[in-house]
Amino acid sequence: MDLQLETHVPLVAMNTFGVAAHAERLVRVHSARDVRLVVDHPQWGALPKLVLGGGSNILITHDPKQLVVKVEIGGMRVLRDDVDAAIIEAGAGVQWHELVRWSLDIGLPGLENLALIPGTVGAAPVQNIGAYGMELADRFDSLDAVDLTTGRMVTLDARACRFGYRDSLFKRELAGKSLITQVRLRLPKPWQPVLGYADLSRHFGKLGHPEPDARQIFDAVCAIRRAKLPDPALLGNAGSFFKNPVVNRTIRNEILQDFPEIVSYPLDDGTFKLAAAWMIDASGWKGKSMGRAAVDARHALVLVNKGGASGEEIKALACAVQRAVAQKFGITLEFEPVVI
Ligand code: EPU
Repeated sequence: MDLQLETHVPLVAMNTFGVAAHAERLVRVHSARDVRLVVDHPQWGALPKLVLGGGSNILITHDPKQLVVKVEIGGMRVLRDDVDAAIIEAGAGVQWHELVRWSLDIGLPGLENLALIPGTVGAAPVQNIGAYGMELADRFDSLDAVDLTTGRMVTLDARACRFGYRDSLFKRELAGKSLITQVRLRLPKPWQPVLGYADLSRHFGKLGHPEPDARQIFDAVCAIRRAKLPDPALLGNAGSFFKNPVVNRTIRNEILQDFPEIVSYPLDDGTFKLAAAWMIDASGWKGKSMGRAAVDARHALVLVNKGGASGEEIKALACAVQRAVAQKFGITLEFEPVVI
């Protein structure tokens, strides 16, 4: 299929915040070959590019001037199914949740804790998606990406991707410089449940169900997410808007003196992750609106578009929340989505 340049394309349905903006120019890519054709194209090749996946981790505050490259690379397959692990591969444009569901349906569990996370497979490594005791990095094998300057294809393993908490090479050195085309995941065997997260263990404790199977964990994660987080299809949002800040023991102890109830989790390296949702809640911002943007009434980490909010309006709310938390706790919350 020939590549088509679309002009003045509405982006409202292409970002989960549902912010109205327009792309001056947009091209949809369906394969790595398409991406190389864009890079080598006599007119488009030299243009700055904005890669757009499912639009679930982006806040658009103005009409992008770049050439928007919309990733629609499909396909899911099993590459290998051995005694120690299965390797599955998916195109970057596949919906992440579809991959989780498909892998369970074909009898290859291992991604169930990451059910219902909005966004595409290609976006998953960028921010190292994580939930309910599991991160993408825990199941990652490798990915293919195309360099947007040279058109060269690279394959990167987990080490090369430099995953961190909601972080990777693609948010740093490679930000805006490459386009992920395929992602491969490693599902270890025998399958082991991951039930360390409090919400999950509580859920199965209540059911008197200490040894759930993968399908039951999938169902539980879906139910917990549906109960706690607004569905972007119904209320525009990008999941957690802020990262949970990581601080050293001294800072955590200082905060603990003034706020003994603060929720924090010890990390392996001796630092502590503080629950940003708790801090926002304690700052009085949960459920509060500013114009047409609001802090979600059920989960304080999520900012929502109540209808017709602009990206600037949502950003203004985010900055107000950030200031309030900084004033109360002396901690500056970092945004999770990319703001453009
Ligand atoms: N809390 C509050 N007020 C709230 C919400 C939560 O005080 O309005 C408290 C809770 O009581 C809990 C603590 O804050 O003790 C943490 O809340 P939760 O378990 O919901 O997790 P989180 O740290 O707020 C993280 C991820 C979510 C992920 C959940 C479950 C980040 C930035 N967010 O949220 O990821 O689903 O854990 O694993 O790490 C996302 O990235 O978009 C996302 C939704």
